[in-house]
Amino acid sequence: MFSPLIAAGRLNVTAALRTRRRGFSGWTGAVNTDYDPLDPAVAAQPHAAYDALHRSGRVHYNPRRATWILHRLADVREALLDTDQVTSSHGVTRVRMIADLVVVTDGEQHSRLRKQVQPAFTKGALESWRNIIDELAAELVDEMISAGGCDAVQRLTVPMPLRVIAAILGVPEGDIADFRRWSDDSTQLINFTPTVNGLMSTARAMRAAVALRRYFLKHLADGHLKGSDTVLGRLLAHNTDGGLSDDQLFYIAILLLIAGNETTTNLLGGMLDTYAQCPDQYDMIRANPDLIPLAIEEHLRYTSPIQNLYRYTRADYEVGDVTIPSGSRVLMSFGAANRDPRAFDDPNTFRADRNPRSHIAFGYGPHLCLGAPLARMEAHAVLRELVDRVSRIELTGPTTWSTNSSLRGPTRLPVVLREKSAS
Ligand code: HEM
Repeated sequence: MFSPLIAAGRLNVTAALRTRRRGFSGWTGAVNTDYDPLDPAVAAQPHAAYDALHRSGRVHYNPRRATWILHRLADVREALLDTDQVTSSHGVTRVRMIADLVVVTDGEQHSRLRKQVQPAFTKGALESWRNIIDELAAELVDEMISAGGCDAVQRLTVPMPLRVIAAILGVPEGDIADFRRWSDDSTQLINFTPTVNGLMSTARAMRAAVALRRYFLKHLADGHLKGSDTVLGRLLAHNTDGGLSDDQLFYIAILLLIAGNETTTNLLGGMLDTYAQCPDQYDMIRANPDLIPLAIEEHLRYTSPIQNLYRYTRADYEVGDVTIPSGSRVLMSFGAANRDPRAFDDPNTFRADRNPRSHIAFGYGPHLCLGAPLARMEAHAVLRELVDRVSRIELTGPTTWSTNSSLRGPTRLPVVLREKSAS
């Protein structure tokens, strides 16, 4: 499945020819690799590939994908800080894109856009959502216990973040089914692949985005979001100079949908799967629930809901002895960096009581995730509810993992939650 094409210091001839065809030639000191994040089998189970990258050189290059790879924690962090040379402004996916969106801009434009979204995520805003989140976690865990064996993805990990986002965007319960369909489809916008299926899915995503836009513009026109404790209500309250148009408010709403849904689903799914696989770790948390915040950081490190994103170099960029040429596509492997043995002891083992706070599951530097406190609050609510009520999380079948190259998490998680009193 994966092996570096060659050990550091020598270039494989075929790879070198392929490399030249891709417009990159010459010795840069990088290790050529056939590690391919787009390979569905690798995307589903990437950790052996990460171990191999860590055993090999500091910077890798995949000639077939014309992609440079950074995988050491220190190197990824440094590159994420250096937005002058390693920019998001050509997009953060394999396909370059330019847009007036916080996540794909840098410098002043990025600061301006980030400031627009920030009022939605103040401490006060989060606190105002705590009850909704706690109640939802209690309701969904309760339903899972009553259901006996079920798919936790359908019952908990998908509905939890979706209903939280719907609530904080001010979508009424009655509209949730439509909202879920549009949001599922429009999220595919970031999974663009240049294949027939990929194009069809992108077309569906565009249609869903149009439907969502119509929906939000109608709600904004109704006027009842003004003064509400919702994201858009808060942004409207800060928008006294009318600086944000309805369309800009809609772009913020869709950004939050795309950024906050599947990522949190992946975190929650990874958490349940891990406790089913490691009951001793679950028992440790049950014995000492004060460990919950630390355990959630370890879940973030271990699961890495976003395994990687891309950047593009605007100047020659040096990493140790290696020079990544200007104009290159660089894969920032959050997943590999979070399993870097130079940074974390025994990185492939989940330890609920480790302190993994240097992880970069939420990114690092100027683009650090704006929704991190919200995601943490959701994970906290679910884990506390589980610990209060459930003595064992048991798998009743194999977990299926997504094959998406960037977002990774369980897509099917058959489990039974054994209630405390029944044990
Ligand atoms: C476990 C859940 C989550 C994970 C793992 C996650 C991960 C990330 C990462 C890695 C980035 C950095 C992107 C980059 O460097 O290019 C990011 C940015 C961002 N995230 Fe999250 N995220 C999560 C949940 C959320 C939620 C719940 C929201 C909001 C509802 C959100 C909103 C954002 C926004 C707006 C940005 C862009 C920040 C900027 O570019 O300045 N995220 N997230």
